[in-house]
Amino acid sequence: MSSVNNTDMNRLLARTTFLLLIFFTKHTLAQKMIDANSIREKMQWFADAKLGIFVHAGIYAVDGVDESWSFYNKKISHSSYMQQLNGFTLSQYNPNAWADLFKEAGARYAVITTKHHDGVAMYDTRLNKLSSVQATPAKKDLIAPLFEALRQRGLKAGAYYSLIDWTHTDYPAFLRDSNRYRIPDDYNRWQRFRQFFQAQVVEINTLFKPDLFWFDGDWEHSAEEWEAAKVRQLILRDNPNAIINSRLQGYGDYETPEQNIPLSKPAYPWWELCMTINDNWGYQHKDNNWKTPGEIISIFTDVVGTGGNLLLDVGPKEDGTIPPEATHVLRELGGWNKRNGEAVFGTLAGIPNGHFYGPTTLSKDSTVLYLFLQGRPTGTLKIKGLANQINSITVLGNGTPLTHKVVGKISWSKVPGLIFIDVPQQALDPYVTVLKLQLAGPVTLYSGTGGL
Ligand code: GLC
Repeated sequence: MSSVNNTDMNRLLARTTFLLLIFFTKHTLAQKMIDANSIREKMQWFADAKLGIFVHAGIYAVDGVDESWSFYNKKISHSSYMQQLNGFTLSQYNPNAWADLFKEAGARYAVITTKHHDGVAMYDTRLNKLSSVQATPAKKDLIAPLFEALRQRGLKAGAYYSLIDWTHTDYPAFLRDSNRYRIPDDYNRWQRFRQFFQAQVVEINTLFKPDLFWFDGDWEHSAEEWEAAKVRQLILRDNPNAIINSRLQGYGDYETPEQNIPLSKPAYPWWELCMTINDNWGYQHKDNNWKTPGEIISIFTDVVGTGGNLLLDVGPKEDGTIPPEATHVLRELGGWNKRNGEAVFGTLAGIPNGHFYGPTTLSKDSTVLYLFLQGRPTGTLKIKGLANQINSITVLGNGTPLTHKVVGKISWSKVPGLIFIDVPQQALDPYVTVLKLQLAGPVTLYSGTGGL
């Protein structure tokens, strides 16, 4: 009896260990990134950029359905989804106007969908006929003219590319509950697909030389199945400074949290929050849940305060125009950046939580501390544990000089005094006010327990 129990126990133990092993292997693989020191130099423009615009352009804007997911999740059939090809006109597409708008917003780069999970390329791919050029009345390549317009204005140009291609007949997954085949059952078919997608990656690299590759959908297969290491090499071979996002099963250069703001500074040095302005990546006429400029600016300051970039998404309509609500947000964000950009672009993540109740950033030499005042404070602000002497404080957006008071400094204690600052109501920014503190030297903090 007891031996049966022991055998069961052993089996259970072995199974649990096995499952835990799988869990941790997966987990550590997902966390694995390229060694930061080996890429620091090429990452510099990205670290300084802080704001990018994400563009989800695709046939899904025609009916205003979820990009690719609508057929995968069986909200509509694949054939009705593909009917949208016939309504994709790009009749008003003006890449210069897009690039002007992105620049006006303050963005330093833009990333556009060259192909989403639906498999429809937004350029003239030579690998099949499923593209905006060959298969839609638009008959246009979206990518080349946009990249040119961006680069003329000094913005970097990024290519979003979905590894998943649910339309391709050699791709295993198709609908939520039905696959075409399992890789182990037909490895040749998988290899055919792999050759296809890798050729498209090389094609995009050759045609557009993207400054950044934004992969998506890596979760459907392992690094080995995608040949992620090889894909990275294929890109870097011809385009050595290209930056690659994390969605390449451990072979990326920066992390990509999606929609959710990190509450503490992520450990890996470079990261980018991608976020929609309403609730969808692509244009959906029924989606009116627009975030306000104030909300976007507040989120943006949270992101830069923890050292990240914001990749803010716009979904153009099928005619190639950007919805006025999105344009409004980008313009207001741009106005705010004009007033306050010194505290954002080319800065470092700010001081740790707890010293000041709000996001902060630092100049590269750490002698300037920027405080972001979210909401419209009516009382006195307080900074704790700042050991530096403050040479001056100004409201960044309008140059108003402010005074401060040091409270509770005990001459013989190492604990710095509290700093109180009054900000007059008339000096506040309509969105987020920024205070610029010129310190006497690089920032020095006390973060102890307040003891003697
Ligand atoms: C997700 C979705 C995709 C979207 C992307 C943007 O991965 O699958 O539809 O394009 O997020 O980050």
